[in-house]
Amino acid sequence: MDFIRCDGAALTLVFALEAGGTGDCVYCGLRLPADEGLAALAASHARGRHESQPDAPPRPGLLPERKGGWSGAPALVLRRNGQAVDTDLRLENCDHAEGQATFAFVDPVAGVAVNVRWQISAGDIVSATCTISNRSETPLEVERLAALALPVPARFTEFTTFSGRWAAEMQEHSSAIAAGGIMRESAIGKPGFAGAGWVLLHAGEETLGAHLAWSGDAWLTLAPDAQGSGDGRAMLMMGAGWSRGEVVLPPGESYTTPPAVFSLAPDRSALAQAFHVHARTEVLPSRATWGPRKVHLNSWEALGFNLSEGGLMALAQSAASLGIERFVLDDGWFGGRRDDTSSLGDWTVSPDVFPNGLDPLIDHVHALGMDFGLWVEPEMVSPDSDLYRQHPDWCLHVEGGARPTMRGQLALDMARTEVRDYLFTRLDALLGEHPIAYLKWDHNRDLFPSGPGQAEGFYALLDRLRAAHPRVEIESCSSGGGRIDFGVLTRTHRVWPSDNNDAIERLRIIPAWSQFLPLEVLGSHVGPSPNPITGRRLDMDFRAKVAMFGHMGVEADPARMTEKDRATLAAHIALYKQWRGVLHSGALHRLAHPDPNVTGMMVTHGEKALSLVAQTEFSPVFDAAPVRLAGLEPEARYRVTLPEPWPGKARHYLANPDAWRQGLTLSGAALMGHGLALPLTHPETAWLIALERLPQ
Ligand code: GLA
Repeated sequence: MDFIRCDGAALTLVFALEAGGTGDCVYCGLRLPADEGLAALAASHARGRHESQPDAPPRPGLLPERKGGWSGAPALVLRRNGQAVDTDLRLENCDHAEGQATFAFVDPVAGVAVNVRWQISAGDIVSATCTISNRSETPLEVERLAALALPVPARFTEFTTFSGRWAAEMQEHSSAIAAGGIMRESAIGKPGFAGAGWVLLHAGEETLGAHLAWSGDAWLTLAPDAQGSGDGRAMLMMGAGWSRGEVVLPPGESYTTPPAVFSLAPDRSALAQAFHVHARTEVLPSRATWGPRKVHLNSWEALGFNLSEGGLMALAQSAASLGIERFVLDDGWFGGRRDDTSSLGDWTVSPDVFPNGLDPLIDHVHALGMDFGLWVEPEMVSPDSDLYRQHPDWCLHVEGGARPTMRGQLALDMARTEVRDYLFTRLDALLGEHPIAYLKWDHNRDLFPSGPGQAEGFYALLDRLRAAHPRVEIESCSSGGGRIDFGVLTRTHRVWPSDNNDAIERLRIIPAWSQFLPLEVLGSHVGPSPNPITGRRLDMDFRAKVAMFGHMGVEADPARMTEKDRATLAAHIALYKQWRGVLHSGALHRLAHPDPNVTGMMVTHGEKALSLVAQTEFSPVFDAAPVRLAGLEPEARYRVTLPEPWPGKARHYLANPDAWRQGLTLSGAALMGHGLALPLTHPETAWLIALERLPQ
């Protein structure tokens, strides 16, 4: 048995290599001393054979197969001529270099070769892919292939998954890794709300997070070695999902999975920071060149489909007076689309709404000092559209079968070149003819029936458009939250985390997404009150403070706000501009508080830090427990202020307003250990805490 190790900054992976046998990850954890004895490390966790086990106990390792008596799910399911192919893949060699290892497995009898590649990159994120090659004379159908098969270190005994629904995405569900295991799967042609793309494993505070970087269907299994057929460790697997017959390899051909990424860290904040470093350095397109994230005003919750040139110009005017920097024209600007029943596919400016074309509005927006963004939903077609009347066969459908709609629409077959060419031509013309800085790219219908190659087709169109218009920023919106992953984020600049702008809901949704994604990509809007989805009424002060922790925007009509609310909103937009450099570059910390209804987040960056602390319910005690901060230098001294405006009722409970205005000077140790006693008794109260490290 040979052993190799791969090291990240704070992470070590140790692999055991058994020539002609398996490759296994026998250590995955905090970085080990350089002289750690790897054979001893493996021996310290080796298990003897127990009762009722095959005489040669199976070692599923990095490539679990249905062989040798292992009863868990396999990483690959293959067929030839409709018959299952049982593989016996054996390790042929391992190509090992700094921070990466590729394990080559071969089964000469089945005519199959598999390469498992793990690489540690920025943020100590491990990226895993799997390549399968058909080395036989007959086609090989790949029914399932895991990008990642991770034998879970035994100390991880709990897990959290993230499933949800439209407007209530990313709900955390935690439980023990128990007999039976779990399976999560999306089957709607995109990640959707099934939670198959994200998972956390817990060993006390220590947390391992994994994600599949893919914008199509995904599956995830987490199964304990319940029947004891392996070595006692649970197995985590993640992979892309596809329809039967979608991946068939002709002789000599190969297929590589999209990457699954994972990392582990001492706690959830440290894990979030690792994912954010990775997203900023390896995922987001040219992140280093991004300017400040502009404050948006989006027309959707302001005007809906009630669009007119005059109304939009007035909206732009009132937006500019609040300090908005980008005006985004949402749904309803094209073809005959006056409601959501028609015209998707007809991507030409509607003369009914814009008798003089789009340019007068764009000129007006520019004259007000803002840039202009536009909503599109390219992959969809309305049955009531010129496109559908011309090309009824372009949608995903079963010949002769029913064509059920969702939101009154059908999905185009993105695997077809002529469909992609049409969409490219239309979008390219729009971007070429008008100075459009930003596209909100929506995708509101699930893909049914399914069709092969849809995610690949989507990527191809997006890549072509970005190559032609490299300066246009793009948002991935899919009913809010439906297509968010590191695959789409290698091509886009932000995501729409949820259609739900209710600040109380956002206090759950943003911390969930920001477990993996940095705040600068999470669109975060101040919506109207009452909220159109939940019906809840919330103070502007509360809505605006919550919206600051993300890529801030407004999705309401300022003309329908009171003068006081407009002033409060403008003050928070100014605060966001002052703090976005910190919020969008720094390290995010989740703040713990004994009251479960208090949510705290904090971002530290250089000398500065900003925290948001929000109470959603009526506190059971008069004086809520002090808020203990995080991520500070214990010995350093900080000037602490509470940026104004302060929340309405709660401000009266602040004991020494002047002291908070002047700033308190406290050590990092005091701030993290002793905390700050803030009036957090009243429901829907939020405070900002600003810190500045003082020179030594
Ligand atoms: C989806 C999006 C919304 C809005 C509407 C427009 O629901 O998530 O933000 O753009 O479509 O129809």
